[in-house]
Amino acid sequence: MFIADYNRSRGWGEPQIVPYGPLSLDPGSSVLHYGQALFEGMKAFRQTTSGRTVLFNPDFNYLRMQQGADRLCMEMPSKETFIEGIRALVEIDQSWVPTSRGSSLYLRPTLIGTEAFLGVRPSDEYRFFVIASPVSSYYKEGLGPVKIWVEPEYVRAAPGGLGATKAAANYAGSLKAAYQAKQNGYAQVLWLDVTRQFVEEVGTMNVFFIIDGKEAHTPALDGTILPGGVRQVVIDLLKEMGLKVVERKIPWKELVDLKSQNKLTEAFGTGTAAVISPIGELTSAQFKLDFSGAPSDQGKDLGLSYEPFKYAKKLYEQISGIQYGEIPDKHGWITDCCAAAD
Ligand SMILES: Cc1ncc(COP(=O)(O)O)c(C=O)c1O
Repeated sequence: MFIADYNRSRGWGEPQIVPYGPLSLDPGSSVLHYGQALFEGMKAFRQTTSGRTVLFNPDFNYLRMQQGADRLCMEMPSKETFIEGIRALVEIDQSWVPTSRGSSLYLRPTLIGTEAFLGVRPSDEYRFFVIASPVSSYYKEGLGPVKIWVEPEYVRAAPGGLGATKAAANYAGSLKAAYQAKQNGYAQVLWLDVTRQFVEEVGTMNVFFIIDGKEAHTPALDGTILPGGVRQVVIDLLKEMGLKVVERKIPWKELVDLKSQNKLTEAFGTGTAAVISPIGELTSAQFKLDFSGAPSDQGKDLGLSYEPFKYAKKLYEQISGIQYGEIPDKHGWITDCCAAAD
């Protein structure tokens, strides 16, 4: 693992790569009491064509982590330390980068407050570390649609809070709703805003809705939504596919109405883990929106025909094609990391 330590008087010390193992922390460390913890999620891919290993959009992850560190009053290492540290770690761990299509090396940059004190204030000491793990393909074959529960009680983020950051605290606050949804047979929850009127995110993904097969709508980044790296990539690609992309506040009730009029043709989540996750079913206490099958009888009467998960499939093929080097990267999303090991 890659580690670097910060101290307010000395600044950042010399970064190191050390064997993976437990961290030794003072029990008074600010991370354990005041939750100064922030992380990122990114992947290194072995290109199927050249055998080289690449990173997907690492500059984006640095920027998001830097903004999160600022919100949590934490010290972030320089971009050079971040990128070069990850590069050096992946180079050493080359043999852990899977070769099969769909698999990758997941990277988890993490920043924690390590100073021991009692009063509530920002820590004067931090540890930045990066750990890595090979991960297999999210879907065994094709894209697997997921069942989602529209969460009526718990919220993920509040205005003015931490929702736009990958603060560990956001995930602690989300566990109960996700756990209950799983017990009831749902893969994840659709988070609503504090008024329980507007949709925000789906589990740990951003969410998109295709309307009339012509427009893609996604919640605007208003401070309670995590700005996803894949979200931005999907916006760019949907525009290139000729769709109008609208970022706005989206009322849940409007989605129910659009679905009953056969105008809501598709819904999917976007994120580093699954890339694209098609939503097969969106269910609340009152309504069940089913996206999995053929158009309803009403739709047939109107002469409408939908290809289920059309844009989810297209986007998945394009993004994973770029990640594995099978489709040229004309957007500059790929950063070369290291050559294939001998
Ligand atoms: C809450 C939340 N929203 C959205 C995302 C998607 O972000 P990205 O596309 O950068 O993976 C993630 C995953 O990182 C997340 O945890």
